[in-house]
Amino acid sequence: MAEILEVNGPILTVRLPEAVIGEQVRVGELGLTGEVIGRDGHDATVQVYEPTDGLRPGEPVRSLGHPLSVELGPGLLGQIFDGVQRPLHAMEALSGDRIERGLAAEPLGGGRRWAFTPRAGLELGAALRGGEVLGTVPENATIEHRILVPPDVAGRLVDFAPAGEYTVEETIARVEDAGGHVHKLRLAHRWPVRVPRPYARRDPATEPLLTGQRILDTFFPVVKGGKAAIPGPFGAGKTVLQHQIARWSNARIVIYVGCGERGNELVDVLESMPRLTDPHTGRPLMERTLLVANTSNMPVVAREASIYVGITIAEYFRDQGLDVVMVADSTSRWAEALREVSGRLRQMPVEEGYPAYLASHLAAFYERAGRVQTLGGESGSIPLIGAVSPPGGDFSEPVTSHTKEIIQAFWALSKSLADARHYPAVDWTESFSGYVPTAARWWHEQVNPAWAAKRAEALALLAQAEELARIVNLVGMEALSAAQRWTLEAAALVREGVLQQSALDEVDSFCSPRKQYLLLDLMLEVYHEGLDLLGSGAPAQQLLKLPVVSRARRWKSLYRSDELERLAACRDEIRAAFDALRKEYARPAEAPR
Ligand SMILES: Nc1ncnc2c1ncn2[C@@H]1O[C@H](COP(=O)(O)OP(=O)(O)OP(=O)(O)O)[C@@H](O)[C@H]1O
Ligand SMILES: [Mg+2]
Repeated sequence: MAEILEVNGPILTVRLPEAVIGEQVRVGELGLTGEVIGRDGHDATVQVYEPTDGLRPGEPVRSLGHPLSVELGPGLLGQIFDGVQRPLHAMEALSGDRIERGLAAEPLGGGRRWAFTPRAGLELGAALRGGEVLGTVPENATIEHRILVPPDVAGRLVDFAPAGEYTVEETIARVEDAGGHVHKLRLAHRWPVRVPRPYARRDPATEPLLTGQRILDTFFPVVKGGKAAIPGPFGAGKTVLQHQIARWSNARIVIYVGCGERGNELVDVLESMPRLTDPHTGRPLMERTLLVANTSNMPVVAREASIYVGITIAEYFRDQGLDVVMVADSTSRWAEALREVSGRLRQMPVEEGYPAYLASHLAAFYERAGRVQTLGGESGSIPLIGAVSPPGGDFSEPVTSHTKEIIQAFWALSKSLADARHYPAVDWTESFSGYVPTAARWWHEQVNPAWAAKRAEALALLAQAEELARIVNLVGMEALSAAQRWTLEAAALVREGVLQQSALDEVDSFCSPRKQYLLLDLMLEVYHEGLDLLGSGAPAQQLLKLPVVSRARRWKSLYRSDELERLAACRDEIRAAFDALRKEYARPAEAPR
């Protein structure tokens, strides 16, 4: 008889002779969702993804005969799921306890009928491979859902439903494999969350994932298929930055995993998302978005599953030949789940209580990002962007330091920038991106050949200013030459006119690549004009007083991304202002006779 032997918080010892590691189980009278994570003779260790209070030894355990898996098919988009893919329809249900325990709701809303169009030319007898397209379902006005042969099925098509309306439960095709076994295919299929979905081959990334955020796109770009982390101390802006990416990035599908964050933060996401429109299609953003919500008031171990549920769904859309983006807030909370489980299993902790496999689990998770050629022969991508919340903002702690080794774009948020209300508080000295060469090719072709040079010049200017600020701190402003003072001013102009970008500013919340380039170019033009004028003997104070120098800081909020001619016309304003000064300070030798 399969039964509970011992309850240790979310970890149970159960008698379950036949179950294998990874198998999904239902435990107790309530049928709580769990997963076998260890075996010892006839006994198994089970991790439970719902609150286990009240659970007693002797209660029954039932194995489901399949690993912890998700249901993949039409009806995913626009949904909000918990960490084990139960749909959370009502907002109120988010506050942990009020979700009915043991509830086994259909993730794709069972009864709904979808209009299925079989792939043209696909006939009975055809040899099908895993990942091949069987047909399509218009999921909503934004996304046409492709129905794929599950990756692990291949064979001859022996039965195929005509165009029509079907639920995700109905059989729409039968495929006979080489061994004579007949697989019934539905509009949806299940896939185990811990097994990366297969693809034909990995391809190098070629395009940036554009987020509309200047500090990211222009300075520390990520690519479609890349891996990025946002480490940041408490309240530095990790969640806002991830919202911005979810809202504005040029991916077709957004998977947003809220893992262990405060409930009210997620409620914010849930409340705001459905009202937002997709900047690329003008349709509701939720049509291309899916949320996996696992707040801090849900059991810690449920966070473990939510990350895998999210990435598996992301891979499923990638396999349809789509560009996806997945953001996870926060991977630190996920790591805490690993730590808790490992502690309860009495495994030897290595660093700050984390198990030895922390690094390999993190690496395996980020490894599921990438740009691939799908089994169906198309190109799809998943960039993975994880927030990291180091306790006390200490970046040397294990989760941040291991993550830093794995990712290639590191967007370090700084407490001092956030305190100064410099948002996004991405610290340009601590941050880095290994994707600059790839992005540079794209900017060179699509925006301006001078992108890489301007970017480098701006970063050099910022670094120079930091050096000068140190000198000023030591010996005062008087020690600086006029050109050095101007350098400080120009760096401030780049910081305020380019790097700072408020998520709350209606005009500036999103910035197109062209606008990003133009703004940077204009700020650098001010800098160059000033240097030139100083060379003609103008005093630095005169430059600092020029109205255009303060006005330039506001241009980002005055002109939308579709009003670039007006922004470009600001160049005349710069030239006029400096020319006027130049006339005043022209050296006699250079003055017209
Ligand atoms: N890009 C931005 N534009 C405008 N305001 C911002 C921006 N980023 C952060 N803020 C401000 O900072 C506050 C905190 O940001 P956020 O909640 O994203 O921080 P966090 O790092 O996720 O915090 P926690 O560690 O608590 O999860 C926001 O409520 C907002 O007022
Ligand atoms: Mg947050």
